Amino acid sequence: METTEAIAKWRSIRRYKPEPVPEGALRKVLDAGRKAPSWENVQPWHFIAVVDEALKQKLVKLSRGQKFVASAPVVIAVCGDVGAWDKPRNREALLELIEAGAMKATAEVVDNLLLKDPVFCVAEHGPSIILARTMEQLGIAYGFMCVEAVNQGLGCCIVGAFGNEMTGSLRELYDEVRADLALPERVYLLALLTLGVPDEQPPARPRKTFDSVVSKNKYGNPF
Ligand SMILES: Cc1cc2nc3c(=O)[nH]c(=O)nc-3n(C[C@H](O)[C@H](O)[C@H](O)COP(=O)(O)O)c2cc1C
Repeated sequence: METTEAIAKWRSIRRYKPEPVPEGALRKVLDAGRKAPSWENVQPWHFIAVVDEALKQKLVKLSRGQKFVASAPVVIAVCGDVGAWDKPRNREALLELIEAGAMKATAEVVDNLLLKDPVFCVAEHGPSIILARTMEQLGIAYGFMCVEAVNQGLGCCIVGAFGNEMTGSLRELYDEVRADLALPERVYLLALLTLGVPDEQPPARPRKTFDSVVSKNKYGNPF
């Protein structure tokens, strides 16, 4: 399937056939997330394929009763690792890019410039910016996964409305889910991706017109 076609076919799917997701297709979806680009290649993510029924029921509760979450054969727990922005780990990622020839810089430039600069170094900021940057990277990763899911003939839905660090709600239940998922301290559960064989064919949802969201050179200047 061409990428343009996969994007055109995109719908959030909330009804799934009971059959399991083929292992190979699931692996390709997860790998699409792994291959996503990220800020200075820090890759602050971890993806957990949840198939455990009891845990899926807890995710329904955590998402304030969004029942379709448990009806999906697989729920991908999209986790953000805020520790990935710590300077030693950010440094490692940058040095790896230099080593791979993807960036023209030296270790001195990394240490004396990039890792001290508030524009280049996310760790120079407080927790809310770090969380925002983490979400930014995850959005790209689950976007890649969504397109690959369509390509594999699967349906999925991004679920962001649940208790976690972003919403600050349902703290107790969230901590329970964190323990079930065995999340390390600085790894947060920031999105869910429900995945399965579609059992519905909804029409495309409305979108703003091309001209209302695209301009040339200046805001409002027609493209
Ligand atoms: C970050 C994010 C969070 C979302 N959270 C939820 C959610 O909690 N529950 C849900 O049913 N849909 C959720 N959605 C799906 C949107 O409602 C959906 O993408 C939008 O209505 C457009 O429909 P479409 O995806 O079928 O084109 C979320 C989408 C995004 C991008």
